Amino acid sequence: MKMKVLWSLALCSALATIPFAQAEEGGMEAAGRQLFTHHCAACHSLDTSQNAFGPSLVGVVDRKAATLPRFAYSKAMEASGITWTEDNLRKWITDNEALVPGTRMRHVAITDQAEQDYLISFLRTLK
Ligand code: HEC
Repeated sequence: MKMKVLWSLALCSALATIPFAQAEEGGMEAAGRQLFTHHCAACHSLDTSQNAFGPSLVGVVDRKAATLPRFAYSKAMEASGITWTEDNLRKWITDNEALVPGTRMRHVAITDQAEQDYLISFLRTLK
């Protein structure tokens, strides 16, 4: 009985830290996380060790395109020669097919400048 109480206390404090951790992110990052959840998370995992339908985006800012091992990129992406600078990430989420014609990523069109800012600042937190 005593053990049970201890366990539930431990669980409660573990759960309580989750919203706290999110509150520590700045407002921009938090807004970016929401956008990411809606527009990107279906295909991109936040876990470094895992590629989902799309490659993991952990550490993507300033990474060369198509360089994760164990992900089958399109020929177009491999040949792009792009580095994911802030500028290129902006172009990519504005119209990915315009930046890399023939990419396997489904079309996204996040054209709102503020939304782009939020998303990119969130991507920067993924290390
Ligand atoms: C329907 C699935 C899907 C969605 C939704 C999606 N992606 Fe992708 N993404 C992919 C795939 C597949 C690739 C690989 C494309 C290729 O090889 O041509 C990719 C590649 C990328 C890359 C290049 C990564 C690298 O290692 O070179 C970036 C950056 C990226 N996506 C960002 C995003 C962002 C940001 C969003 C949300 C706004 C998003 N993606 C939404 C499937 C998706």
